[in-house]
Amino acid sequence: NRILLVNGPNLNLLGTREPAIYGTATLADVERIARDAAQEAGWDLRAVQSNHEGVLIDAIHTAREDCAGIVINAGAYTHTSIAIRDALHGVALPFVEVHISNVHAREDFRHTSYLSDIAACVIVGAGVAGYADAVRHLTRSSA
Ligand code: DQA
Repeated sequence: NRILLVNGPNLNLLGTREPAIYGTATLADVERIARDAAQEAGWDLRAVQSNHEGVLIDAIHTAREDCAGIVINAGAYTHTSIAIRDALHGVALPFVEVHISNVHAREDFRHTSYLSDIAACVIVGAGVAGYADAVRHLTRSSA
């Protein structure tokens, strides 16, 4: 069994980007944290990061071939992208929405998500450890 981990725009800058909000872990750290959690359950994990909406959508489509679930931090696209919502709906895989920061404690425009109401679960404000929690949710519920 395999999980697709999708990180959206600007998450390649993790570690140096607004560390007071996002901490100092890098994208490589995030991917390792998620992969370790998957491997603890005997699962594989494929990690994708892109700053381009269409690339994220293509990656979501590809998951239909060989993944049992998706962990996604869509970054700012969370608050704007009907297309990413439709892609997740389209592949009909269970997915967990992750945000490193507590988006509800930030600007109003971050309080809206195009993904939350169709997500299996939503993890916000748990820092990068939220990625491991998200993976565990999927490995537990689709074992
Ligand atoms: C984020 C929150 C989003 O509002 C923001 O645009 C990001 C990161 C988070 O992980 O806290 O890029 O998804």
